[in-house]
Amino acid sequence: MLSSARNALVAGIALSIAAVLAAIVASGTDWLGFTSFVLRAIHVVSAIIWVGMIWFVNFVQHPAVVGADDAGRGTLFRLVVPKVATIFRHTSHLVILSGVLLLLPTGYLLSSWMYGAPFYMPLAKVLLLWGAAAGAVAMWAFVHMMIWPNLQIVLGEKPSNAEAKAAARAKVALYARANLLLAIPVTVLMVAAAHLL
Ligand code: HEM
Repeated sequence: MLSSARNALVAGIALSIAAVLAAIVASGTDWLGFTSFVLRAIHVVSAIIWVGMIWFVNFVQHPAVVGADDAGRGTLFRLVVPKVATIFRHTSHLVILSGVLLLLPTGYLLSSWMYGAPFYMPLAKVLLLWGAAAGAVAMWAFVHMMIWPNLQIVLGEKPSNAEAKAAARAKVALYARANLLLAIPVTVLMVAAAHLL
């Protein structure tokens, strides 16, 4: 199972499923609790990957690109940057989608419809969650409206000249830092909404 990253990943997922099934067999659950758990697990794991990529881009990839010579930079743009971009683009969709769905079982949205009666929630908890969600949507927008279109210019996937490429690189770095700025507050506020109050 350690012969490749894919095998290790599959083994890790299988281990998680086995442990969760054992817990369910031992203690039971209901459909709502189970659905909420599955969405939460997908949300947290995809958020870890997305925020991990933001960390990697800012503290590893960007300094490497800046410090590399032309040949090294070419290698990074060919072998590393496109893979990193693919991972953070797709995980960002998954975080948003699982987060939006999670609003239902947790009672932040349409609680009367979900539970047949309005759901009391402290205002501070609601504000923490919606504040974090607003920050997360801004992060998602930075990825898809600023970082990815400019990265395509940097990678040569869109026609441009050297001046446009330099401007695009500066924008990618700027919005990657904006995502870094928001990543910790969004994560902390989400955890606070779930556990503080
Ligand atoms: C960068 C983006 C995001 C990150 C890093 C993130 C991270 C997290 C984390 C770590 C939790 C706590 C899970 C737990 O401890 O149980 C959480 C919970 C949650 N998140 Fe997110 N999240 C993000 C985006 C979103 C978005 C866009 C939405 C919805 C529009 C959302 C909705 C929720 C909900 C409803 C919960 C459960 C809160 C509760 O149980 O009271 N998240 N999120």
